[in-house]
Amino acid sequence: MASEERNGSEPIRSQPIRTLARVGENQCEGGTNYRIVLEVDDWPEWGAGQFVMLSPGPETAAVHYDPLLPRPMAIFASSGSTGSQKVVVLYKVEGRGTQLLAAARVGDHVRIVGPLGRGFEIPEKGTHSILVGGGTGTASLYGLASAALAAGPVTVILGARRAELLMAPSDFEKLGVELKIATEDGSSGSRGLVTDVLKPMLEATPDTGSQTRVYACGPTPMMRACSELAKASGTRCDVALENRMACGFGVCLGCAVPMAEGGYTLVCNQGPVYDSRDLEWAGIP
Ligand SMILES: Cc1cc2nc3c(=O)[nH]c(=O)nc-3n(C[C@H](O)[C@H](O)[C@H](O)COP(=O)(O)OP(=O)(O)OC[C@H]3O[C@@H](n4cnc5c(N)ncnc54)[C@H](O)[C@@H]3O)c2cc1C
Ligand code: FES
Repeated sequence: MASEERNGSEPIRSQPIRTLARVGENQCEGGTNYRIVLEVDDWPEWGAGQFVMLSPGPETAAVHYDPLLPRPMAIFASSGSTGSQKVVVLYKVEGRGTQLLAAARVGDHVRIVGPLGRGFEIPEKGTHSILVGGGTGTASLYGLASAALAAGPVTVILGARRAELLMAPSDFEKLGVELKIATEDGSSGSRGLVTDVLKPMLEATPDTGSQTRVYACGPTPMMRACSELAKASGTRCDVALENRMACGFGVCLGCAVPMAEGGYTLVCNQGPVYDSRDLEWAGIP
């Protein structure tokens, strides 16, 4: 995992592995949110914002051409010694793939490929990091929150439609970050959107140059709105895209999105994290 001495440096990119992971835990955390702990031998060093491709369900659950493709999931956290590690993934049951994953029992084995992609640059010392997570996008930000605390104050803004859909608020609270919550129905935190919380924060600290950085992960309209607010205040905003993916490592070209200066980028390989100014937002699904 990213460590203090890596502040301001290029994201970690270890050689990914492809293996069967043993399910150590797989629990519902409320609503459709689950936490799966996968025991993986020889798990490499990984960086905040990287992801894994998980087969939809345990090896024995279904013939694996239905569904055929693995599902991308952010690496939330890992623990244990070098070698065998517990890799934690938080997921929301959306469709058939995640339904099969939710049915995995302790002791089952799930195919995993990772760590994949280019994650977040850890902020430089003295930076105030503002992390904005919407829905499942929250899972991509936990490793960053943890690493960014070594650089300076961290504010985390989490949002969801209602309280039970918030992902991991207590994990962030335990880290010691400043936590702000926004729900659309007002069942937790302030009523409204994460951008309603972000906007006054950025207005209150107008262009502090490199001292403030915004990081966002969630639905595309949310990330785009965060990017525009950050731009208006002269603050850099990095986003972690959550496009649909088929292969996860640059072969199928299914995850291509347009760049602001023309051409395309493969989110699974050159991303999922980008400086939001580099993206052509109108072409992002
Ligand atoms: C880099 C990356 C990291 C991700 N990390 C997480 C994570 O940590 N936790 C988590 O719960 N989800 C995460 N996602 C989204 C997750 O991959 C999808 O929710 C999942 O593939 C849905 O599979 P399914 O078979 O259950 O649903 P499907 O039957 O394939 O689809 C069901 C519904 O989910 C929507 N959907 C499918 N894929 C995506 C997607 N990529 N983004 C948004 N909506 C989608 C479909 O449009 C459809 O409405 C991530 C995606 C990417 C690209
Ligand atoms: S998912 Fe196949 S190239 Fe990106």
